[in-house]
Amino acid sequence: MKVLVTGCAGFIGSHVVERLLKEGHEVMGVDNFDIYYSRSQKEKNLLPLLLHPNFKLEEENLATMALVKVLKGTEAIIHLAGQPGVRGSWGTSFHRYITNNLHVTQRLLEESKGNKLKRFVYASSSSVYGDVGEVLHEEMKIQPRSPYGVTKLAAEHLCQLYHQEYKMPTVALRFFSVYGPGQRPDMAFHRFCQNILRDAPLTIYGDGNQVRDFTFVDDITEIVCAALTADVAGQVVNVGGGSPCTLLEAITTLEEISGKTCLKTFLERQKGDVFSTRADTAKLERLFGVKPKTPLREGLALEWEWMKKFVQSEDDEHAIKANIQPIVGVDQAVLAEAKADEKATKKAAKKAAKAAKAAKETKQESIDLPETNAEEKPEV
Ligand code: UGA
Repeated sequence: MKVLVTGCAGFIGSHVVERLLKEGHEVMGVDNFDIYYSRSQKEKNLLPLLLHPNFKLEEENLATMALVKVLKGTEAIIHLAGQPGVRGSWGTSFHRYITNNLHVTQRLLEESKGNKLKRFVYASSSSVYGDVGEVLHEEMKIQPRSPYGVTKLAAEHLCQLYHQEYKMPTVALRFFSVYGPGQRPDMAFHRFCQNILRDAPLTIYGDGNQVRDFTFVDDITEIVCAALTADVAGQVVNVGGGSPCTLLEAITTLEEISGKTCLKTFLERQKGDVFSTRADTAKLERLFGVKPKTPLREGLALEWEWMKKFVQSEDDEHAIKANIQPIVGVDQAVLAEAKADEKATKKAAKKAAKAAKAAKETKQESIDLPETNAEEKPEV
């Protein structure tokens, strides 16, 4: 199948592209390498995939680009691009959430509504629930607690509207705290692993007793790819149920994996942070016949191994940059002479260009003349 993956250079996006290519799909990836986090991490995510003959990358902004460029011939869309970050969605940055989560989703739906897509997979989030219950199931009355969650829910509603009105085969998958190799740098485990490696204290928001249904990225990609062909049009489905535990319990596991005892700094609970997320996976199992299976210890160990290499590569890059020395000991007189030469060359080039332009214009006039006079010539 020819699949368009938006946000292909991101954490989940790059894993999804890798899996789709392994499964034999043809993938068009779009990413604008947004400044939310480092371009270098995204490039590292994509590097192993760039040479694959079935992968094409477009560096474009979905909010402004001519979408026809990437929609032509596309049979399915996996829409993962968005503005992430629960805690940062308050205040003046909200317009980024509106544009990247809501407006972009509407553009994609609108532009592809007549394309007879086989599937439109939308990456939603457990953040749409808020703190509405112990176990979260799709039929609950929900109330997001962060502006981020509000935009994710609104985009989910758009998908359902386009399904109802235009028969678009949309499905919204609600991901629960995804983790694993390549995780975004603002997320808890990325920060914790990095700080452990750098012997820095871990910052914990609140008392650390918040519960998250941590879900390993490979379990997520398995469901995302299965959603291309499963009978799920018009559905909203939880994709979680990996390993619910408190943040402190997860940190203890990380201490065991790393063999280090962490220093912890406790800060105030962050606005928008929910107390608990636990996915009810009955619908997931019914529709897909599978559910996330990777135990937290196994998934965290893989993220830890990835982080060791990632931190090393970042350190190597910084060391190379720091070692690039400015050229010292240049004779100032020679430098001044070279600069004067450069100036003279530029001046001469400008003069020559001007002369050439004038000559061209004169020639043009002399070519035009006989044609103008042609009418006056007597017919023979
Ligand atoms: C994550 C993602 O960031 C969202 O994009 C996604 O939509 C959401 O999961 C979801 O699944 O709904 P979050 O649950 O906040 O959001 O995931 P983490 O950033 O990994 O944070 C988990 C918990 O650790 C939060 O309570 C957070 O406050 C806490 N945390 C995070 C810390 O205590 N310290 C940190 O340095 C980072």
